[in-house]
Amino acid sequence: MRSFAGRDILSLKDFERDEFFEVFRVADELRPFAERRENGDLLASKTLLTAFYQPSTRTRLATEAAMHRLGGHVLGFSDAKMTRAGDFYQESIKDTVHMLEYYGDVIAMRHFEQGAPAEAARWSSVPVINCGDGWGEHPTQVLTDLYTIWKDKGTLDGLNVLCVGDMRMRTMHSILYAMTQFDMTASLVYPPEMSLLPEFAAELATRGLRYAEFESVEECLSKADVVYMEPVVQADYTKSREEVEEHGLTPVAYRVTKELMATRAKTDAIILHSLPRMDELPADVDETRHARYWFEAFNGVVMRMALLSLVLGAVS
Ligand code: CP
Repeated sequence: MRSFAGRDILSLKDFERDEFFEVFRVADELRPFAERRENGDLLASKTLLTAFYQPSTRTRLATEAAMHRLGGHVLGFSDAKMTRAGDFYQESIKDTVHMLEYYGDVIAMRHFEQGAPAEAARWSSVPVINCGDGWGEHPTQVLTDLYTIWKDKGTLDGLNVLCVGDMRMRTMHSILYAMTQFDMTASLVYPPEMSLLPEFAAELATRGLRYAEFESVEECLSKADVVYMEPVVQADYTKSREEVEEHGLTPVAYRVTKELMATRAKTDAIILHSLPRMDELPADVDETRHARYWFEAFNGVVMRMALLSLVLGAVS
C-alpha cells in the first residue's frame, strides 16, 4: 500500500481498497478523542490552513475541529472576497498557493472550479486536501460516509446503495468511484436534467461500476441497504456564492419520507445525507431507526482527524 505521508487527497478515483480500510483503522484509533471531547497533542507541532472559496458549514469546521482535537494549529479564510484571490486582483491559484504553503503544513481547499485543488497541489510543497471542487469530487465527505456505513454494517461488500438526487454532485462522483473498489451495487434516482455528466459516466463504465437507474425512490427502495441522498433543489456548485429569494419544492419521486421508509424499506436500511438538506428529507425522519446523518456528521470530525494525521505522517 502507498504511504499517506505527504500525499494529496484530491480524488477517490485513485483510492485502493486497502487504503480505505487503512483510513478507517486510523479513524477508529483516534475517535476516542472526539468521543471524550478531549484535545490531544498528536499534531501539536503542525498547522492546518483552510482555503475556502465557497460556503461551507460542515467541511471547513469539521476539518478545523479535527485539527484542534489533535492539538494542532489552524488558520485560513472562509470568504475569498476578503483575500486578494477574490477581490480586484483575482490572484491565481499558483500565486496564492505559493504563499499558503509557507503559512501551514497542510492545505484544506474548497473551490467552485473543478480541478482547483489539483491545480493547487501542482504548486504546493505541502499536502492539499480537496474539500469539494465544483461539480468534481468531495473525497473527505465520502470517506466519512463509507466509514459510517462500515461502522454500521461491519462491511462494505454485498451492499446496495440507493443514490438519490443530483448526479452531477461531487459527492455522487466520489461515492460511485469508491464503490468500484467493493462488491457494491448502486441504484440511481435523479431528475432527467440532473443525470451523470458524460465524462463521469464514461469513467465509471470503464471502472466497472454496477448500477441500475430508476425513476423514483419508491421503485427501488426495498432492496437498498443504504439510502444516500443529495437535494435536487440545489445550489450551482460552479459559483462562489449564490443568494436566491425562493427555492422550488422537491418532486415526490426524489423524497424520502418516514411513511415510505416504514412501508418500503428494509428494517435495517440506513439513510445518509451529507447535508444541508432541503425538503427531500423531512425532519420527522430524524426520529426513525434509519437516520444516520447525525452520526455521519460526528464521523466527519473523526475522519478528518485520520486524514490529517496520515498526510502529516503522524501515524503509520
Ligand atoms: N457536507 C458538506 O459538504 O457540507 P458543507 O457544504 O456545509 O461543508
